[in-house]
Amino acid sequence: MNKNKTPDSKTTPSLEMPKMNPYVPAKAKVLEFFRESPDNFSIIIDFKTKHEPGQFVMVGLPGIGEAPISICSYSSEHMKLNIREVGSVTNSLAKVKEGDFVFVRGPYGTGYPMNSLEGNNIIMIGGGCGVAPLKGVIDYLSSNRKKYKDIDLLFGYRSVHDILFKREIETWKQHYNTMISIDKADDADKNVCYDAKVGFVTEHLKKSDIPVKSSVVFICGPPKMMELVIEILKEKGFESEQIFVSTERLMQCALGKCGHCMIRGKYTCMDGPVFRLDEVEKFKND
Ligand SMILES: Cc1cc2nc3c(=O)[nH]c(=O)nc-3n(C[C@H](O)[C@H](O)[C@H](O)COP(=O)(O)OP(=O)(O)OC[C@H]3O[C@@H](n4cnc5c(N)ncnc54)[C@H](O)[C@@H]3O)c2cc1C
Ligand code: FES
Repeated sequence: MNKNKTPDSKTTPSLEMPKMNPYVPAKAKVLEFFRESPDNFSIIIDFKTKHEPGQFVMVGLPGIGEAPISICSYSSEHMKLNIREVGSVTNSLAKVKEGDFVFVRGPYGTGYPMNSLEGNNIIMIGGGCGVAPLKGVIDYLSSNRKKYKDIDLLFGYRSVHDILFKREIETWKQHYNTMISIDKADDADKNVCYDAKVGFVTEHLKKSDIPVKSSVVFICGPPKMMELVIEILKEKGFESEQIFVSTERLMQCALGKCGHCMIRGKYTCMDGPVFRLDEVEKFKND
């Protein structure tokens, strides 16, 4: 911008919109509530914003608090969130009904660099609730399918009852190489008709023939699972530069101000939550 031509703010009325306070959340109506598993639910909210797959929002209720939750959709019309009930905020959110309001601010963070990964095979490996941000990538791919080569999904859950996104899996199977696994199948599960492989997702990954050349891998799940997956990928010949991990740190402001989420000079809320493995490998024990 040519600074000499900037109008004098004292004489010319400003046409700029007043700056919103980034700490103040917006009210968003719950359009759909769906129970995915005994301790997990999805909500669709009337919250429209431009975002990248892998980014997150802060979601809360007045008098309770707020928590970072990944965006698990890719839509200009609404936003879908998938939430596991683990504490005060998420247990309170589990009680909302269609028509109620939640409070949302964001999107925040750096997601998957989808543009620079065009032309690659995309392999997504998720465990439990970690599948949520990956579902945001799947939704993105459904409207950008031609830009990428093969898509492999390897998602593991504890039991058949814990499988998330059951409504979406059949569609994924039609378009992508989809493998859903459960850690174990109890006798009681025999009546639950579900097409899932038994055994840890890591065991199935070992046996899989996913392509190494021209491939990138997105991993999201419990830390132990992510560690094992990385080990197996390295054995298969993947380089750290081909692997993207999603990190979870305690967050408060999500704006790079409070320092709660810092890992050695990097703000998880701004530089992450998605990092290329070579960027965070050396911080493994932090
Ligand atoms: C970028 C990002 C994206 C996320 N996306 C999702 C998502 O899509 N879906 C989802 O369900 N969750 C997601 N999470 C996790 C979620 O934000 C946390 O589980 C959040 O703490 C839940 O808030 P709560 O008040 O319900 O539970 P909390 O009361 O915060 O408790 C959650 C768990 O953390 C433990 N805990 C709380 N405080 C501490 C502490 N100071 N030190 C150690 N342990 C502690 C508790 O014991 C409990 O087991 C995400 C987190 C991040 C950082
Ligand atoms: S959460 Fe406050 S700096 Fe990241």
